[in-house]
Amino acid sequence: MFISIFKSAPKFYARAPGRVNLIGEHIDYCGYAVLPMAVEQDILIAAEPVTTPVIHLANTNPLYADFSTNANDIQINQTKPLWHNYFLCGFKGIKDHFSLDKPSGLNCLIEGTIPPSSGLSSSSALVCCAGLVTLMANGKTLPKVELAELCSKSERYIGTQGGGMDQSICFLAEKGTAKLIEFNPLRATDVKLPGGAAFVIANSCVEMNKAATSHFNIRVMECHLATKLLAKSRRLDWKTTEKLQDVQIKLKLSLEEMLDVVDEVFHPEPYSIEEIGENLGISLKELRTEILSQNTQVVTTFKLYQRAKHVYSEAARVLKFKEICVEAPDNAVRLLGDLMNESHASCRDLYECSCPELDQLVDICLQSGAVGSRLTGAGWGGCTVSMVPIEKLERFLANVKEAFYAKNDQGLAVEESSLFATNPGDGARIFLEA
Ligand code: GLA
Repeated sequence: MFISIFKSAPKFYARAPGRVNLIGEHIDYCGYAVLPMAVEQDILIAAEPVTTPVIHLANTNPLYADFSTNANDIQINQTKPLWHNYFLCGFKGIKDHFSLDKPSGLNCLIEGTIPPSSGLSSSSALVCCAGLVTLMANGKTLPKVELAELCSKSERYIGTQGGGMDQSICFLAEKGTAKLIEFNPLRATDVKLPGGAAFVIANSCVEMNKAATSHFNIRVMECHLATKLLAKSRRLDWKTTEKLQDVQIKLKLSLEEMLDVVDEVFHPEPYSIEEIGENLGISLKELRTEILSQNTQVVTTFKLYQRAKHVYSEAARVLKFKEICVEAPDNAVRLLGDLMNESHASCRDLYECSCPELDQLVDICLQSGAVGSRLTGAGWGGCTVSMVPIEKLERFLANVKEAFYAKNDQGLAVEESSLFATNPGDGARIFLEA
């Protein structure tokens, strides 16, 4: 296909995997560790550097229209981001990092097997893959950790204020192991999952494009505002305290103690923007211009108690999950399942990032033999991940297929991409023509 489109052969290939987050949702941008693994589904790019300063993008899927642009004039559309904008994020990230005046032009054919808008990080895989292609085409190198950090920043050109989980696991994943990803500094530690259980991904088939709505950025802002109010209430310098983790570090408290602080400081009723301004002792104007982001300007109430409760308790669950994997007690599968269930309840009730279809799918998965089941990724649609004892796997798959997919109102056909068991896959890499 590349040859028929570009009339020459690709010079190299890059691949970048999607991921499934086992536990630790919506806490990476608060500074806390998360526990994902790469999936086998990926983005693959066949690439050829060209001497003209033009980027030509084609996609093997006819749903995604071809795109061309001048390599020196990268415009990223934040209001209605189309697929190629994610490529441009990766390209621009590398271009800016190396201050490339004359970045190489590119012919690229892109193929993706990660279901889009499903919480399996198809967008970050495309950003990372494009970053890798641009790096290679311009004869540059970077350590994986730096590439991951750079691609995390670059994806924000699209307008979402994500953390670094997706890009980090994309580059740092290794076959056969999940990873505990910690930030500041970024590092990844192997987490050996217990034998005897499979991780099964099931798609709720509700699409959630986090760049097209403001749910995601509102949550990021609620965490940011909660940070400021907590810091102020404990007489810390709230202006320089940015993340919920910073409050914990400055107060030198455990996560459990932070939960008590949240109970003392916040009321469960939503905070009006006026009340937040009063609490911080700043005017509404200052609050709007100095703290609120572009797409949270119109929001008038913020749930600070619930969001902070979720973050500190979820951060503690990640550490417990890892500990159980290391200590591997006889009942490890049951204990990990319990943590996944608590995580889902917290996402649903406190963070409010679930949706009725995801909740229904989680219930069906639990009734079908999973010991734990939860939404994975940003939420508001997309996939669940369930932990299923191996001996129950076959029945589990048949039951979920029957109860969710066959009975779904839309009569959804179960394709391989809607319901599948997965193993920890490998990270992003380049393949050269032999
Ligand atoms: C998206 C973001 C991640 C993370 C998850 C929620 O995937 O890109 O950084 O915040 O949502 O855990």
